[in-house]
Amino acid sequence: MIEFDLKEKVFHLKNNEISYVIGILENGHLGHFYFGKKLSGPLMSNMFRIDQNKGLTSNVFENNPSFSLNNERLEYPCYGSTDFREPAFDFEDKDGSHIYNFKYSDYEILSGKPSIDLPSSYGLESEASTLRIKLKDKFGLEITLSYTIFESLNIIARHTQVRNTGNEVHYIDRLMSLSMDLKDSNWEMMQFSGDWIRERHQYVTPLRPGIQSVYSHRGASSANHHPSLILKRLGANETQGEAIGMTLMYSGNHLIQCEVDSNSITRVMGGISPSYFKWKLQPNEMFQSPEMLLSYSGKGLEQLSHTFHDFVRNHIISKKWHNTTRPIVLNNWEATYFDFTEDKIVELAKQGSELGIEMFVLDDGWFGNRNSDQTGLGDWFVNRDKLPNGIEGLSKRVHDLGMQFGLWIEPEMINKGTLLYENHQDWLIGHPDRAISHGRNQYVLDYSNQEVVDHILNQLINVLDNANVDYIKWDMNKNITEAYSKTLARDQQGELFHRYILGVYYLYEKLIDRYPNILIESCASGGGRFDLAMMYYAPQAWTSDNTDAVERLKIQHTTSLFFPLITMASHISDVPNHQVGRMTSLKMRGDVANFGTFGYELDLTKLQDAEKVEIKEQVKTFKSLRELIHHGEFYRLISPFENDYNNTAWQVVSKDGNQSFVTWYQVLSRPNEPIKYLKLRGLEVDALYQITGFDEAISGSYLMYQGLLIEPSFNGVEIKEYALGDFQSRTFVIKKVNYNL
Ligand code: DGJ
Repeated sequence: MIEFDLKEKVFHLKNNEISYVIGILENGHLGHFYFGKKLSGPLMSNMFRIDQNKGLTSNVFENNPSFSLNNERLEYPCYGSTDFREPAFDFEDKDGSHIYNFKYSDYEILSGKPSIDLPSSYGLESEASTLRIKLKDKFGLEITLSYTIFESLNIIARHTQVRNTGNEVHYIDRLMSLSMDLKDSNWEMMQFSGDWIRERHQYVTPLRPGIQSVYSHRGASSANHHPSLILKRLGANETQGEAIGMTLMYSGNHLIQCEVDSNSITRVMGGISPSYFKWKLQPNEMFQSPEMLLSYSGKGLEQLSHTFHDFVRNHIISKKWHNTTRPIVLNNWEATYFDFTEDKIVELAKQGSELGIEMFVLDDGWFGNRNSDQTGLGDWFVNRDKLPNGIEGLSKRVHDLGMQFGLWIEPEMINKGTLLYENHQDWLIGHPDRAISHGRNQYVLDYSNQEVVDHILNQLINVLDNANVDYIKWDMNKNITEAYSKTLARDQQGELFHRYILGVYYLYEKLIDRYPNILIESCASGGGRFDLAMMYYAPQAWTSDNTDAVERLKIQHTTSLFFPLITMASHISDVPNHQVGRMTSLKMRGDVANFGTFGYELDLTKLQDAEKVEIKEQVKTFKSLRELIHHGEFYRLISPFENDYNNTAWQVVSKDGNQSFVTWYQVLSRPNEPIKYLKLRGLEVDALYQITGFDEAISGSYLMYQGLLIEPSFNGVEIKEYALGDFQSRTFVIKKVNYNL
């Protein structure tokens, strides 16, 4: 999969569908030659470059006006040496200089995907090959660029490492995981931005000269800008056109940017945000950037998503959870908030178990003096007023009902009024002589300090060792402000954000080592840390605190660009909805939650009998479709971001093609609507399909080319019973009939 042409000095990474080409330039720097559909035949350096004598440029070699880095397409560009665009790295040496000249030194090719000291993807020797290119500067630093290409998935995993082989300290001001200069700028940039309860909405803008970027300086990958981007050709859509997708496997501060220069070259780069970052690299030390995953599709966004879905399922999520589906959960947060007793929880769980729900998750409020969001965080011992028999007693009672038991924690935070605060005010992130801002009355613990992490770990062990816990929901509800660590030296304060997230990863690792059978769901006020690194530890994430069915259409739709349905926690909650006050039908809420892990978050004891009957049916249906939904191929048929935002449609097809499940959603009922045909995808043209409720089997070609007939809600004479009013959804369960046409 990886070739090096010594004469041409060209590296070619390829699988059956894609190629990535890097060349060594005459000054020893690397050129980015190509990334896209597979190239075959000999690749010569001059096929990718032309004489660049453009006048009025700064040039690298004396008496040679043709070689300016500014006019080259570079693979890992540096600052200050004829290239005036943004560099991929920036270091500072002992005399304050930022001038470094890294030249190609050597390379190695390995089978498989070596792991790094951060959450990273994995691949067997038979699945992937890795190229490492080493670059050296004469003052004692070595950069290693690492590229892993996967044999049967269009994925290239990139990261960068820098090692100090000299005798002096150097500072890293920037070390991007990925940089590449694409040959033109005819791309649209899709970014996934939003806020709390409005995560990952889609914004598409054509690239323009200058820099456009997404970033986070919150200490978390954030609900505001997801650490990913898609570049797509103008006019590319779900099923056609070129698209490049990239997503950073990192949960802290990030930057992903596109810079269009005066030659219409697009420099794409991404990694840890260089803002507020500075890392002291002592002799013999090494620093690794997180991994960036890169994919190319020649067939639109759908192919990109299918690639990422398979990749997340098979090369990111821990093997332990590969062939499993996720349990149906009942969570008490929106049912009780902080106000519960052991008996109330058991009553909820009992109702849940009678309806077929498989796991009860006890949310916030079970520990310390936690009766509101004013206090409690940091005191990870049970609140005996609420739970006299502890988590041990409660988890036993829940298990006795035939359900699994899950527990909420928020281990990175501290409230005032806690024992932890009394004893360790110095453990908060923040300067001792300056005010520290709170968020939801809480403060962030300094996870760059190992003592802090160990203390929290020990408290959690005390709880978890003594109870029967099957699942943890790990929440995080405040971003880092006044970033200052009392234990880091002056010239290491710039390390705090990264060290913080390393502390979080460390705690994840310790918990998983000790409790390998506990399934972890990550959460950050909903989807505020919905990234691949979290997924590496916690194979599912709470997609959003917004449980409204209409809002969830947009959030889940965009999340599915990179993440498979099995990772998206989705619950049916009460109406009026607690986030937007909307009344939607139980049916539509269920039909949206179906496209995720599925669960409930409401007070079942307050429901009417008819609602309970409906829920029982929903649970039964989901169980019958769960394997398909969690492991099938997902298709976005209609986008909630397009046309008039009124319709969305989703489909899943099983990997063997035998089964499919389709749901069509309509937000508002409209008068005298035209007949709609919903074109399905992923079926066999010549196969016959039986749709539940239809008399005749229908061919794949009809379903895909003509489409499934969606009758209008109101034809001017009668309103169909199944299509009453606003907030409708219609589902179709489709099975392949056992013969071909
Ligand atoms: C924020 C989470 O996103 C909610 O689901 C819930 O767990 C609350 N925190 C509890 O405080």
